[in-house]
Amino acid sequence: MTAFQPRVFSGVQPTGNLHLGNYLGAVSRWVPLQDQMPTIFCVVDSHAITAGFPDPVELSEATREVTAAYMAAGIDPTKSIIFNQSQVREHAELAWIFNCVARMGWLSRMTQFKEKAGKNKENASVGLFAYPNLMAADILAYRATHVPVGDDQKQHLELTRDIAAKFNNDFGERIKELGIGVPNPTPSPELPEQLYFPLTEPMIAGPATRIMSLRDGTKKMSKSDPSDLSRINLTDDSDTIAKKIRKAKTDPDALPSAVEGLADRPEADNLVGIYAALGGLSKEDVLKDFGGQQFSAFKPALSELAVAKLSPMTDEMRRLMDDKVQIDSVLKDGAEKASAIAEPVLKDVRRIIGFLDVR
Ligand code: TYM
Repeated sequence: MTAFQPRVFSGVQPTGNLHLGNYLGAVSRWVPLQDQMPTIFCVVDSHAITAGFPDPVELSEATREVTAAYMAAGIDPTKSIIFNQSQVREHAELAWIFNCVARMGWLSRMTQFKEKAGKNKENASVGLFAYPNLMAADILAYRATHVPVGDDQKQHLELTRDIAAKFNNDFGERIKELGIGVPNPTPSPELPEQLYFPLTEPMIAGPATRIMSLRDGTKKMSKSDPSDLSRINLTDDSDTIAKKIRKAKTDPDALPSAVEGLADRPEADNLVGIYAALGGLSKEDVLKDFGGQQFSAFKPALSELAVAKLSPMTDEMRRLMDDKVQIDSVLKDGAEKASAIAEPVLKDVRRIIGFLDVR
């Protein structure tokens, strides 16, 4: 990798409640990164309007709720920048430029668009189609080098790299001429001598990169599943968490004693993965303790661990939500800090492209 300043960027959409997948696949993994490099965590409200405009009051509330969840999970506004996307105009501006970098063919291959648009593609918003360009802009407006996400965002991050590479290439000579950017230690026909945007590293790791529905181990846990029993929300109380785990779909066999035994057992694999991620363990560790046991023994242990881990966070979220003034002030401060990084980047990008600056 080149000498870009290391920086983490990630985000969650404020649509509905955060669930265990968002927490284990993303937010919980952000916390330790705060002590390793500069970190920016965004509540991506501009993304939340691509599948239809939510109720305006609910959108504002959900934005605060996601902010509260970040903080309750351990994202510290004195260490990280926390803000909502729509407050920093550079995201939208860079997304427009990336609309002109990315190719129709690239976006047509995005599986998430295909899933979300379904059969009714003609009626999907243009925003839903162009969404990955906005995601690339979110990341590259800060020239972020590391993006910790769940497995479902992998393809979007590959597109982000393709956009960065194409921009670097198309403007390679110009970037060098202007003397901005970072030298590329290994220039090639694919990447020129001087780079403006980093090729972002996806950080997709651990036992919980893809938490599945509690009702169907072949489907991802998601906010849009009509069954609330399919997911654990971060706002669920202890009884609800215990009930959802009790009712989680399983198979009739005992747990295996090795990870290979989880193949073809999606529900068992999912619950073991959840236990591992909540306990900071590997799946192997979990099976060392529970291999050979029935779900009737494993589920209560999982409930106990989930409640012990999640309840204090839920309480803290409620406490934070009682003080909206404080949440808004965290977001305001974050937006100012984020703008201070993104503004000079967009200034460079305008110069690189040749937009005449008369002000
Ligand atoms: P979103 O809001 O759908 O999800 C937020 C984060 O949660 C992860 N996630 C999961 N991880 C494991 N198991 C699951 N079942 C599960 N469901 C969701 C997601 O992978 C994600 O990390 N496009 C993004 C938001 C975004 C973004 C960005 C992320 C916009 N711009 C820039 C990183 C960088 C999204 O819709 O995530």
